[in-house]
Amino acid sequence: MKKAIQISDKIFWLGVNDRRTHLFENYWPLPKGVAYNSYLIDDDKVAIIDTIDSGVMDDYLENIEDAINGKTVDYLIINHMEPDHSGAIKAIIAKYPNIQIVGNKKTFPMLERFYGIKENLLEVKEGDSIDLGTHKLNFAMIPMVHWPETMVTYESTNKILFAGDAFGSFGTLDGGIFDYQVDLEYLEDEMARYYSNIVGKYGGPTQTALKKLSGLEIDMICATHGPIWKEHIPEIIAKYDKWSKYETDEGVVIVFASMYGNTEKMADYIARELVNNGIKKVRIFDSSKTHPSYIINEIFKYRGVILGSSTYNGGLFPTMETLTNELCNMGIKNHVLSVFGSHAWAGAGVKNLLKFAENIKWELIGEACDSKCSPHDEEYAKCKDIAEQMAKKLKELY
Ligand code: FEO
Repeated sequence: MKKAIQISDKIFWLGVNDRRTHLFENYWPLPKGVAYNSYLIDDDKVAIIDTIDSGVMDDYLENIEDAINGKTVDYLIINHMEPDHSGAIKAIIAKYPNIQIVGNKKTFPMLERFYGIKENLLEVKEGDSIDLGTHKLNFAMIPMVHWPETMVTYESTNKILFAGDAFGSFGTLDGGIFDYQVDLEYLEDEMARYYSNIVGKYGGPTQTALKKLSGLEIDMICATHGPIWKEHIPEIIAKYDKWSKYETDEGVVIVFASMYGNTEKMADYIARELVNNGIKKVRIFDSSKTHPSYIINEIFKYRGVILGSSTYNGGLFPTMETLTNELCNMGIKNHVLSVFGSHAWAGAGVKNLLKFAENIKWELIGEACDSKCSPHDEEYAKCKDIAEQMAKKLKELY
């Protein structure tokens, strides 16, 4: 079966779905799988733009051959070196040994270290272009969206942006390739989770990239994951703009780490009081049950964050420690925070949450509440105060 799908004049989608991998980058859950998109332009000169993960290469080379009917491939454009897109490079070179590998000066050291490839390299810089015949490829650097070497390729004849990870999504392409063919509602949270989990650390570089690309006339965005954007381009650009500015809505994410349910009782109490004070969007997560991927995604949506941890081995409960480390590493901005927790004999959970507040530089709302063994009236009164202060702050902000 021919799997190369023509998406424009002489341009083909060569993507594959991955439903087997449980964890993207061996960390982020993939309940709906993921697609790796590769593209081919069959002009006087033939170019492939990005490849796929080596674990799902089954028919990839045959699909290339089908698309070009015995011709050779002249260029392999590497927009991004992460192995989910560079995994087939060696196989392509083995099949087309004279192929020119197109990247920038940050691409090639990675290419050598990952795959030992150092020949037939064609270095491009910002604004350089390659003429394929009818189609013309223009290159622009978008460092840190999502790695330092990342660039985009703009095909100016058909106004197609080959965007790398930018505008990508988790989720396989189940029959549909274009945005108007897929159920975007079904994919909506996978788009957000892809952004928040993978690109979310790089809000500043994403803003720079959006500004740079805003001057281009774009009729189609071909990302390396998720649907091809054609009819919903303004919407996906608006989403990226909002996410990369760390803009949030009114609401609160409460995350608790609780050994025997005492910290959880406080979380529930705070949630009730938030609702009593007019906050409707309240999401509670148990950090022992929900992967940080989903919690981080919710934190990207809502301004308020309330974290509660029991003390464990003289520190934070391990799953809360993982979450707070992730949040610090990602440097997520623009939140307000309250903290609470419980301990049996030495209160280190809340102390460490206060340290986290200092590190991440989110505004601390209300007074931290630490219960000994289990919450009593005094602690419930403090939890009530946390909820009231948080609700008041959010009402001021929205
Ligand atoms: Fe899809 Fe950064 O790789």
